[in-house]
Amino acid sequence: MDSFFVSTPIYYVNARPHLGHAYTTIVADSVNRLHRLRQQDTFFLTGTDEHGDKIVEAAEKNGQAPKEYADRISALFKETWPWLEVESSAFIRTTDPAHVKCVQRFLSTVYEKGDIYFGEYGGHYCFGCECFYMEKELQDGLCPDHLEKPRYLKEENYFFRMTDYLPALKEHILNNPDFIQPERYKNEVLGMLGEDLTDLCISRPKSRLTWGIELPFDSNFVTYVWFDALINYISALGWPDGEVFKKYWPGAHHLVAKDILKPHAVFWPTMLMSAGVDLYRGLRVHGYWTVQEAKMSKSLGNVVQPMDMVDKYGLAPFRYFLLREMQFGLDASFSEEALVNRLNSDLANDLGNLCSRTLAMTNKYFQGLVPEMSTLADEDQEVVDAGQAAMDEYMRLFGDFQFSRGLGVLWGFIGRLNKYVDASAPWVLYKEGQTERLQNVMYILLEGLRKIALHLWPVMPSSSEELLSQLGTGFDLHKVDLEQEAGHWSGLKPGVRVAKKSNLFPRRELELKQEAGKAKQDGEKAAESPESSEVSFEDFQKMQLVTGRVLQAEKVEGADRLLKLEVDIGEEKPRCIVAGLAKHFYPADMQGRQVVVLANLTPRKIRGVMSHGMILAVHQGADMALLSSTKETQPGSRVS
Ligand code: MSP
Repeated sequence: MDSFFVSTPIYYVNARPHLGHAYTTIVADSVNRLHRLRQQDTFFLTGTDEHGDKIVEAAEKNGQAPKEYADRISALFKETWPWLEVESSAFIRTTDPAHVKCVQRFLSTVYEKGDIYFGEYGGHYCFGCECFYMEKELQDGLCPDHLEKPRYLKEENYFFRMTDYLPALKEHILNNPDFIQPERYKNEVLGMLGEDLTDLCISRPKSRLTWGIELPFDSNFVTYVWFDALINYISALGWPDGEVFKKYWPGAHHLVAKDILKPHAVFWPTMLMSAGVDLYRGLRVHGYWTVQEAKMSKSLGNVVQPMDMVDKYGLAPFRYFLLREMQFGLDASFSEEALVNRLNSDLANDLGNLCSRTLAMTNKYFQGLVPEMSTLADEDQEVVDAGQAAMDEYMRLFGDFQFSRGLGVLWGFIGRLNKYVDASAPWVLYKEGQTERLQNVMYILLEGLRKIALHLWPVMPSSSEELLSQLGTGFDLHKVDLEQEAGHWSGLKPGVRVAKKSNLFPRRELELKQEAGKAKQDGEKAAESPESSEVSFEDFQKMQLVTGRVLQAEKVEGADRLLKLEVDIGEEKPRCIVAGLAKHFYPADMQGRQVVVLANLTPRKIRGVMSHGMILAVHQGADMALLSSTKETQPGSRVS
């Protein structure tokens, strides 16, 4: 079977991972898992894009050198993905020496081919996009994306003869309808090709920017960030000679949002043509998540943090919601209310109820053992047929990136099974002693659930594994064959014991309210405390509150709330402090941070680790902030 390769964009390290990054990466993970379930050999690539003006600017704002800053934010991305059950095959950074070498090799190849020339260019440069705009591309004189006034720059640079390859690109797109999908984006690209595109400026003079990859043929210039970043897709595979490259590149699919359509659909294929590399197989383009009808942005304060959502509602509901709510290709609006609705109606009600009813009845009527299935009555066979058809359709739609529709079909079948319980009324069959029919009905329900769980593995891996284990069958990726699944309704072994109950997706709406209530209570408690429990100044002085600097941070194994920190508080050796911060701060986030420590708290063993002190933090509902000082202080400085 062909191998499969899927990539996400490599994300700029000027922002922490947010909902948009999480969406593309979770989609890539789900698609990759689907191919893994089909026993295909797959490669899933993600990573970070670390060169260019934007990063220099962000590093400066944070008072760090670009590399130091990039290391920190890149680590945040890398650490986030496993928390979201994203399992990539590789995580590439554009500062990796192997990538740098590969970019230079690619540039040399294109240069030697005669496709790079030196020239002067004047244009409207947007630092946010890191690219030049033509007058007619501006909107009222502003960058169409950032709505900021670009700077007019005139400088000498290197150019890639992109326009030479545009006719061949157009032909390729027309001959390969699957190359760019969904259709609307294919048409958008064909539209772009109809405009008067110019050659691509691929360098930046070092006098203006040094944070980039030096051109192999002129050390006064660095590479334009896109000519560096796009090459990650092949440098990670070991282009040009690697076996891995040979194996996976022919099955390459890039996943991006509409914001970066042009670099992927125009720059990249023409670059590949010039370097003599086969084009990728497919570009899959999705829309944008908006929040309250607006683009997510720091200034609007509406940036959704994926880990906050996971903390509040659980990972499976979050992943399911993202795939179910957005029609791939179109924009979608994110709200916690919509997430909670999906969780309660689709997961808790439809799937959750089906699981608990089925397990409860198996326990009641067959002592928890999977019954045998024998010849089916017509109405039972119809359910099996509907199940097979639903799974087939789900697989087809999922493979075609129509996740929302695919899940809709699967949920249609879940609804059908719930109705089947009501229509066949196993409690009546039991009462009337119709054992054979009862066995058949229960087997159909259990096997139906097994199939549903298996097909949901790409969307919610650990919940689906848990459901499979509740059904008495484990999950072994190497033993699954989805292609075979289509032809039978007999995966569960009769006689196997199922779990007594299942509560995989508890309802959450009350918790939303409690959260708000709790925040209020916290506030009330704080307001009450001055009168209710006063402390003397002497008592306060007993508390040794000092500033400290976090030197190291790591997660405590098996405890998802705890971080183990090494904190310098001006003593001979750093203190080891275990703190309940992991749900709010990544280890890389804590590194180098100034904190306030209660140093003379009685030492305590937490999860096998001796903790000497406490980090002070403020809880606000589900949120948490750390106490710090407004100025850099010597570790160990007394707080009073
Ligand atoms: N570094 C470039 C990509 C180089 S790829 C060779 C870049 N980085 S980015 O950090 O800005 O990431 C853009 C991507 O993040 C989008 O294409 C999309 O995958 C994801 N998203 C960011 N915000 C998003 C939404 N609001 N909604 C959906 N996805 C979005 O561009």
